[in-house]
Amino acid sequence: MESFKPLALLLLFLLPITTVTGWGVDGHFTTCKIAQGRLTQAAADAVNHLLPEYAEGDLASLCSWADHVKFRYHWSSPLHYIDTPDDLCTYQYNRDCKDEDGTMGRCVAGAIKNYTTQLQDYGKQTSQYNLTEALLFLSHFIGDIHQPLHVGFTTDRGGNTINVHWFTRKAVLHHVWDDSIIETAEERFYNSDVETLIDAIQTNITKEWADQVQIWEKCSRNQITCPNIYATEGINAACNWAYKGVGNDSVLGDDYFLSRLPIVNWRLAQGGVRLAATLNGIFG
Ligand code: ADE
Ligand code: ZN
Ligand code: ZN
Repeated sequence: MESFKPLALLLLFLLPITTVTGWGVDGHFTTCKIAQGRLTQAAADAVNHLLPEYAEGDLASLCSWADHVKFRYHWSSPLHYIDTPDDLCTYQYNRDCKDEDGTMGRCVAGAIKNYTTQLQDYGKQTSQYNLTEALLFLSHFIGDIHQPLHVGFTTDRGGNTINVHWFTRKAVLHHVWDDSIIETAEERFYNSDVETLIDAIQTNITKEWADQVQIWEKCSRNQITCPNIYATEGINAACNWAYKGVGNDSVLGDDYFLSRLPIVNWRLAQGGVRLAATLNGIFG
């Protein structure tokens, strides 16, 4: 009994952590790596200048920073996702972008707008904002908004309360989309190596998807970033792929994995391309 207590306590601490992350570390690493390869010289210089010294110029190494500060910056937790009305499969900024207290703009789409605006202070003599943190938040949130279940339903908290089996293991649907699909793909197809996965997505971006990529990069006229478009795509993907055919106790195996993996790769690519386009737009 004595030896059980510390373990139980440790699990109590770990459980909430596993239910609230965005894409897992590999998903965020992938979107930031893809983005960094597409920056203009001006944007690359600004990113290098804003990153802390210890990152050694590697944005991807700090792309999960926003998940690590959720407890220090408690206010930032609702900025990682959007909850939409159950089963509607639509997103509207004015209706959905609020936190549980109803404060408007406190969702991942509002956060992307906010940190984009803050970063436009770059190059000014002074700014009231911490632009290093703004860069790390923005880079993370553009990843998160592309995880379909980060624009999910309210009652199940983006699939966080849906218990499934991932092959033979117990899992939570949200976590399947944050981590499991990516990890299983890495193990089966990419030599258990995230860099090999990134290379495969980069090849798609420059070849099969090249025409699409030009469309992803553009958003509405005069807008640097278009989180409302990304969120609408997100809830559509959540309904058409993530939630589809899944309920409590569903067993998700090869059928689900192989049919959803292309969507995950596509969303990771979009996240990376749009993060680059946003940073290029901000830094000129
Ligand atoms: N908490 C509540 N809704 C969530 C979502 N869609 N994603 C992550 N965490 C959440
Ligand atoms: Zn998540
Ligand atoms: Zn997140």
